[in-house]
Amino acid sequence: MASYLVTGCAGFIGWKVAEFLLAEGHTVVGVDNLNDAYDVRLKRWRLTRLQDQPNFTFHWLDITDRSALERSTFNVQRFDAVINLAARAGVRPSVENPWVYYETNVMGTLNLLELCRELGIAKFVQASSSSVYGQGNPMPYREDQNTDHPPSPYAASKKAAETLCSTYHSLHGLDITVLRYFTVYGPAGRPDMSPFRFVQWISEGRPVTIYGDGTQSRDFTYVDDIARGTLAALRPLGFEVINLGSDRPIGLMDAIRVIEKLVGRRALVEYQPRHPADVKDTWAEIGKAEWMLGWRPEVAFEEGMARVVEWYRENRAWAREVETG
Ligand code: UGA
Repeated sequence: MASYLVTGCAGFIGWKVAEFLLAEGHTVVGVDNLNDAYDVRLKRWRLTRLQDQPNFTFHWLDITDRSALERSTFNVQRFDAVINLAARAGVRPSVENPWVYYETNVMGTLNLLELCRELGIAKFVQASSSSVYGQGNPMPYREDQNTDHPPSPYAASKKAAETLCSTYHSLHGLDITVLRYFTVYGPAGRPDMSPFRFVQWISEGRPVTIYGDGTQSRDFTYVDDIARGTLAALRPLGFEVINLGSDRPIGLMDAIRVIEKLVGRRALVEYQPRHPADVKDTWAEIGKAEWMLGWRPEVAFEEGMARVVEWYRENRAWAREVETG
């Protein structure tokens, strides 16, 4: 059995990855700073589920705090890999406060790469984003397309982190897999993202805010598929950038139709101007993931959203109060 350091373990993807690793019998050391980028109750809910498990240890720690990382006990533990899922992750808020995105997503990643170098940890998995493809690449997006024009500070910070990973691979020989995740959704998902918001708003009869005309589409990908793909990426690969997406883009209004049906209520749609940092459409070419990781998505959008709605119903007493803007 192996031992893994998972950063952002109270975050949406970090929690699920840690859960999958523990289910396979591995040891997980989780790190999170439990920041208030969104309602901390969600983070605590996820963390509680991990803390129930014997092979899990939690460190309340910020990856941007280099001296805290140095003071930690990580140097007396042996890790087979570091999986960096700690991040500032919203596209639109990154325009308001780009500094915090660079701090966490770039400096935080740099600190962890240094940790790997110093402690001789051979494998690093870095979370990146479909948003690095920006506008203008032909779809579906392939890993070798141009990502030189990220459309938001968030996307730019993820691109910068990817670039640092490439440097640490060529300079220090770290084995690094960069995963470009495509709009990940699922139970206990992020409340700043459309799936959580739409389920809450439709369930509570609140107006559903749509930025733009609703003709945008996303390659929504279920969180269990993403966690499975992340575990598959722990194998030695040298340096690779790999898309993890569902390869089945859904229009935003179609997503709302699916949720309306599952909730049993009509959405009261209110249109707001399109956000300038938003990309219009996303769609992953996933041949590389299939070929290198033996990975394919398994959960269709209708099935995944049914699980989100079920989770919302079970947790409605508090989930209805989660701040969604
Ligand atoms: C999401 C995540 O927030 C990022 O962390 C991730 O890196 C990115 O996906 C990705 O695929 O790489 P985003 O595409 O903005 O970013 O995801 P949503 O917040 O779910 O938004 C999807 C679309 O719905 C956007 O066009 C957005 O403008 C729209 N939207 C979102 C609304 O119309 N109303 C809302 O209340 C929220």
